[in-house]
Amino acid sequence: MRSKIVAGNWKMNKNMEETEALLTTLAAKLPDTDAEVMVAPTYVSLANAVRVLQSSTIQVIAQNMHFAETGAYTGEVSADMLLNIDVDTVIIGHSERRAYFGETDEILAKKVTTALEKNMRVMFCFGEELEDRKSGNHFTVVENQLKNALFDVDASKWKNIILAYEPVWAIGTGETASPEQAQEMHAFIRKTITEAYDVAIANNVSILYGGSVKPGNAKEIFSKPDVDGGLIGGASLVADDFTAIIKAI
Ligand code: G3P
Repeated sequence: MRSKIVAGNWKMNKNMEETEALLTTLAAKLPDTDAEVMVAPTYVSLANAVRVLQSSTIQVIAQNMHFAETGAYTGEVSADMLLNIDVDTVIIGHSERRAYFGETDEILAKKVTTALEKNMRVMFCFGEELEDRKSGNHFTVVENQLKNALFDVDASKWKNIILAYEPVWAIGTGETASPEQAQEMHAFIRKTITEAYDVAIANNVSILYGGSVKPGNAKEIFSKPDVDGGLIGGASLVADDFTAIIKAI
């Protein structure tokens, strides 16, 4: 049975003190849920976040990592450095990494390979641009993003993969994909994985939706059969909003 997951991608927000304050509130207000709840603070707050949440079921995850073991990669962080502070899940391929930091499918495939070799869980992000959808190419774009970064992964490793479909035109815009649009794409993703691997892997992978999920729309989006939760940006930075979204799953 695949997991229900609500994850907060904090992006470049909250210093260490602000992070500790928000996490303390979230831990105290966490609703009863059978979903996995995850938060992704910035690198500078990760180790302290793990300490703050050591008695909570909320998981601390990373927003990114480099594919190299170690070395001359100024500004980067390795998988082993994350594991060293008990962070074993990492977001890879967020559209902002692709857009602002030139992360190509080839680079993302290397990051996925390294993370899975280290037995980390990978939350792989992908999604089309507005012009792709307007031109009807959104399914092709998503299929290629999956194929180019994930479809060389051994079947045995798919238990460590979480997918996050985030249409770029819905990220930070308030323009949310409709529940029907999300369901249509999530079903297509599962079909694509079935064809590349098998139906068991396709049915066991959690597929999250991301892109302007708010307390007012979360329940309807999460109600769709192929939507297994959400990757939340802005709303994850506000305790009451994030807990309301967790209640919606
Ligand atoms: O990774 C989640 C993020 O891209 C979605 O952001 O602010 O639209 O919820 P937001």
